This record gives sequence, structure tokens and C-alpha cells, in this order.
Amino acid sequence: MKPKQYITTPIYYVNDKPHIGHAYTSVACDVLSRFKRMDNVDVMFLTGTDEHGQKIEKAATIAQQEPQIFTDQISLNFKKLAVAMNCSFDQFIRTTETRHHQAAQAMWQQLNAAGDLYKGNYTGWYAISDEAYYHKDELSKKTDGTMVAPTGATVEWSEEPSWFFRLSKYQQPLLDFYKNNPDFIKPANRMNEVISFVQGGLQDLSVSRASFQWGIKIPDDEDHVIYVWLDALVNYLTALGYPNTEHETFTKFWPNTTHVVGKDIVRFHGVYWPAFLMSAGLTLPKQVFAHGWWMNHGQKMSKSIGNVIDPLALIDQYGLDQLRYFLMRQKSFGQDGDFTHEAMIERINSDLSNDLGNLSQRVLSMVQRYLNGKLIACNPNNETDQKMILHASNCLQEVRVHVNNLAFNRGLESIWSLISAANQYVDHEAPWALRKTDEKRMEQTLYILSDMLRKIALLVRPFMPTSGDLLLDQLCVDSAQRTYAHYDQWLDTETVLPVPTAIFPRIEKHTG
Ligand code: MSP
Repeated sequence: MKPKQYITTPIYYVNDKPHIGHAYTSVACDVLSRFKRMDNVDVMFLTGTDEHGQKIEKAATIAQQEPQIFTDQISLNFKKLAVAMNCSFDQFIRTTETRHHQAAQAMWQQLNAAGDLYKGNYTGWYAISDEAYYHKDELSKKTDGTMVAPTGATVEWSEEPSWFFRLSKYQQPLLDFYKNNPDFIKPANRMNEVISFVQGGLQDLSVSRASFQWGIKIPDDEDHVIYVWLDALVNYLTALGYPNTEHETFTKFWPNTTHVVGKDIVRFHGVYWPAFLMSAGLTLPKQVFAHGWWMNHGQKMSKSIGNVIDPLALIDQYGLDQLRYFLMRQKSFGQDGDFTHEAMIERINSDLSNDLGNLSQRVLSMVQRYLNGKLIACNPNNETDQKMILHASNCLQEVRVHVNNLAFNRGLESIWSLISAANQYVDHEAPWALRKTDEKRMEQTLYILSDMLRKIALLVRPFMPTSGDLLLDQLCVDSAQRTYAHYDQWLDTETVLPVPTAIFPRIEKHTG
């Protein structure tokens, strides 16, 4: 039986158009999903949109539209982005779907049945743009007198009747859980932040809002809507068929789950979510992985500053696989990093055009020119060959370890060390010279190199699916053989390889 893995992106707020940060999380989940599928894992990849709450209601009012019509449009933009980024999602969930309303209300009833909900009044600070409550100690005062959260969001004083969730009751169970599952939140610094937050004491959490309408009604108390974060987190269960926990999809994928999230929403996934699940008597997910942010020249991207980067424009300008590669290669997943056009052009020209593009072009053109496209199988018989083959064989395991740790940039570094070794092998063996002196050896080197290219194509395929497949097409690799189970096998020599086409054209600097 194949292992199973459930991989989720956060569901995106539909108050504005998608930007590079949203594309980033989705591509990371896509790389992970594609890699796992090629590695014999049965994957369910979920993404979607978070459509309720005060922030969305406010954005719809500004746009002078009914919230449902407004969210329909913006949700579609997010879906188009996921498709444009070539994300292989299995489901795109929207929290305005009926199935989700039912699931969120069922979760509410489970929390209530556990005795974990009670009615009271919320008086305190609320940040609409984060949809989060803040304690006064977390806030600071700006020079103009407005109070701001650590995220920079403006907070408002709020006083309203509210239902509360007994979060305080889960302080010790959560600490015990973290102790027994030290890898629950990654990277480790985020786990430590969460542990100290919980150790600092948990207050009960307001989980309903009564001052606006746009949300899921609370069963039996229709003046309230469910707090948007409780509503939103349940999406991960809705997609698996919850509240029917006997559902085949549910039993198959829950709790073998990796939630990929940005560092700003770790508290919701690392504290509130496990507490809700404990209260509902459900098993907790395996991992929450928090990634860093893309900045623009060191600054946070925001609509008000006007420095938001549009991923669709980047696809037009540089190409889709080039963008996917850059996002995964340029910075380590847990850290923040700067987006610049200069860095992107540099990566494309040096890593893609020079290293990988040239390797494939050199090898495949020689196969055409010297062998008329017909490879001749051979047994590698000298030390240089053995070294090259061993390097390739070990590379898969290295990349697997890195991808499993969501260390995508390190996975790509390993692949690029193989590409560089293959380029050195070409220079060292010089098939163009062998052609005149030792034709048999030339055939051998071209066969080994073509097979190296096949392995490299399999390795880059989760990161750059179109280019990986183009390369595998040029090597006539059957689509059923594009998995890691075939990695250590050798290239078939039955077919005549087609005349190669270049995969990564260089970008001229002035386009930046
Ligand atoms: N709706 C909530 C998530 C609910 S999940 C149950 C939300 N939505 S969001 O649209 O504001 O953010 C979605 C994700 O995009 C977050 O993980 C956030 O970290 C990420 N990013 C937003 N801006 C980003 C960058 N500039 N860089 C990288 N990721 C960033 O939060």
C-alpha cells in the first residue's frame, strides 16, 4: 500500500488580488506534492480561498458589491493564479461552499458538546486586517496615537457579545503535545516561539462575532457568525469529507498532514488549531511548516506602499518554470528574502541557461550529430564513469531528504552539483575528440551523459514540470517511467532521439 500524504496551503483571503507571496506558498506545496507523487506517495493537495469575515465584508463594501459576488470574482483570480503557476492541486476549496458551512457548524457543535464553549462579552483589541485579537501588552502606539499590533496592523477597540472557546484548558495538553512531537512546528525557532507563547499563559478565545453578518451562522444563535479563523481552519477537514470522519478520503489522509503556512500565521495553526482538534476529539496533523516572506528591497510588500509584485507579470516576463525555480532556489524556505529582477535574471542565465541548458544542448546535439540520434547501450567501465554514476545515484536520496525537510533550495543545490559534475564529465571526456580517436568510448560517454540528463530531468521535474518533461520528451522517456522508481534504471536505446530544442534561453539584462 502506498503511503499517504495530505498537503495544504493556507486558504487565501479574497480581499485583494493575489501576489508573489501567495504564489510562493502554492508553488512550494506543489513541488512537495509532485515530488511525493513521483516517489510513490498517494498525495492529496489542497488549496483554496478564505472568504468570510470583517475584512472581506469591508472590501466588498468598498467595491460596492454584494460579498458573495465580490468573493466569487476574487476567488476565481486565486484559482487562475494556481493554474497559471502550474499547481497540481486536487481540490480548490472555498469557505462559502455549502459543504464547508456544514463542516464549520458541525465543528462548532463538537466544541460545544465537549463543554468548551460559553457565552460572554469581548472587550479588547481587534485587528481587522489580521482578523486577530491582541492583548494590550502586545501593542504599541504610533506617533499619531493609533495602536498597532506587532504585525503592523492597526487595531480597533471592540466591545461585543461573544462566544468563547476554553483555550486556557488546553495550555498543558498543548505543551505536552509539543514535548512529545518536537517536529510538529518547523523550523525549530518557530516551535520555540509557540512554546513560549503557550507557556506565557493562554486566555480563552473569542470565537464568534456579532457586529457584522458576513460569515457562517452559529447553530441556535443566529445573531453571531463563527470567528473567521475557526471557520477557515476547518477547511482542512471539510475537503476530506468532515463531519463524516468515516469518509474514505478522511480516513485515508487525516492526520497524515503537512500544513504549509507563512510565519505570520503560525499561532493560528500551531496553537488554536490543535486545541480545536483536541476539543473535537480528532487526531492532530503531523506538521505545520512556517516559511519566510518575500520582501521588496528589504520592505514588506503592501498595497499602500505600492511595491507589491505580481506573479503573472513575472511569468510573462521570464517564463513560468524560471519563476518557479527562482522562488524555490533563491532563499531558504524558513527565511525571509528579497525579490529583485537582477537576482532573477542572474539565476536564469547562470543556473538555467548556462548550467542545465548548455548541458542538455551539448549532449543532445552530439547524440544527433555523431550518432544520428541513436544511442548505443554500454556498461560503464572506468573510474570516471563509476564516480559519475554513483554521484547521480546518491543525488536522489539527498534531494529526497531535503524535500522532505522542505529545504527546497538545498535540494536544488544538490541537483546543481550533479549538473556541474556532468558538465565537467563532458569537458574531461571530450566526446568530440574521442570521435576521431576512439569511437566506442565516444558512444559510451554519450550514453552515460544522456542517462545523466534523464536523471537530472527527473530530479528537476517537481520544480519545473514543463521543462523537466520537455527534456524527458527529447530523451524519449515513456510517461509511465517518469518516477523515482525508474531513477536507477538505464535509458532505453530503442528509439531515435529527436533533434533537440533549447530549453532555457538567456535573458538580456535590459528586460529587468
Ligand atoms: N486566510 C488566512 C489563512 C487561513 S488558513 C486556514 C491568510 N490569508 S492571506 O491571504 O493573508 O495569506 C496567505 C499566505 O500568504 C500566508 O501564509 C502568508 O504568510 C503568505 N504571504 C503573504 N504575503 C507574503 C509574502 N510577502 N511572502 C511570502 N508569503 C506571504 O492569512
